[in-house]
Amino acid sequence: MAFTWTRHHILGLEDWQREEYETLLQTASSFREVLSRRTKKVPALQGQVVTNLFFEPSTRTRSSFELAAKRLSADVLNFAPGSSSLTKGETILDTALTYVAMGTDIFVIRHQQAGVPQTIAREMDRLQSGVSILNAGDGQHEHPSQALLDLFTLCCLLDDERPRLELLQEKKIVIVGDIVHSRVARSNISSLTAAGAEVHLVAPPTLLPAFFTGLVPAHNEGKLFLHHDMDTALINADFVMTLRLQKERMTAYLLPSLREYHQRFGITRDRLKPCRKGVKVLHPGPVNRGVEISSDLMDDPDFSLISQQVTSGVAVRMALLYLIGNLKGEGVPL
Ligand code: NCD
Repeated sequence: MAFTWTRHHILGLEDWQREEYETLLQTASSFREVLSRRTKKVPALQGQVVTNLFFEPSTRTRSSFELAAKRLSADVLNFAPGSSSLTKGETILDTALTYVAMGTDIFVIRHQQAGVPQTIAREMDRLQSGVSILNAGDGQHEHPSQALLDLFTLCCLLDDERPRLELLQEKKIVIVGDIVHSRVARSNISSLTAAGAEVHLVAPPTLLPAFFTGLVPAHNEGKLFLHHDMDTALINADFVMTLRLQKERMTAYLLPSLREYHQRFGITRDRLKPCRKGVKVLHPGPVNRGVEISSDLMDDPDFSLISQQVTSGVAVRMALLYLIGNLKGEGVPL
């Protein structure tokens, strides 16, 4: 029997089941096809209102959700905290309720504090509003749409026609950088281990505490390894995902200097020598050029998947909005 999508809020990937990942990958693949047509729009969410509540700066995630919603023919509202009634003392919840009263069906929420999308989701359920929440990044906690677009990018690279989880079985993926502050790393650990990949985390000890070993959800098949030395971590890597140094979240002096960090943990052509032939590099952006990755490698299409990640983001976010947006309706064909 075909799997039926029932998840109403997308808050994190920790409890995602295999069928959900597979459905997401297939749906994103259909939308990628839509995006290659001359008319890149479908009426799937016509009449629905998608409201972007971004309390933290964002370039690609916010624009990508906006474009995804528009390509599904939804009406999109964008909230900007600086010019809103928050500055007059209104609470986040009251702000959300204002948008509910205007007919919002889906909130896409980013907040610097972990747990805000979850709190608003609980309130929406308590009020039986029927409104769905999509977490676009909460503090250091989760960033599910980013991990899903990373997953889609990797699976499409391995089989463009039929992206699916098993393609990543036993692939070695190295995540390098500011892991302790990274919601991208946390969500990727769930999705990549669910796919059966070997995930290797590497960073200086100040950016990679030992509690990360406990992060593989029990039902996942993959394995998680921790390293503090790049040369051993990178041996036979198929993919290297490098992360931004989240200077805005560093409350102490965690690194001697950016120059030294680049020398020890920055990704350069030379650094990639222990990896498998054909190794590819990912970065969620925004990039500190010359810190976590050398400028020439970042721009080299033989190595860098950065622009594919951004492109995948629109199809993946269309899929997420479509899957939760259609729980209520009759289901409009793609
Ligand atoms: C990431 C984020 O905001 O968590 N960026 C993104 O969404 N593309 C990573 C980062 O800010 O470094």
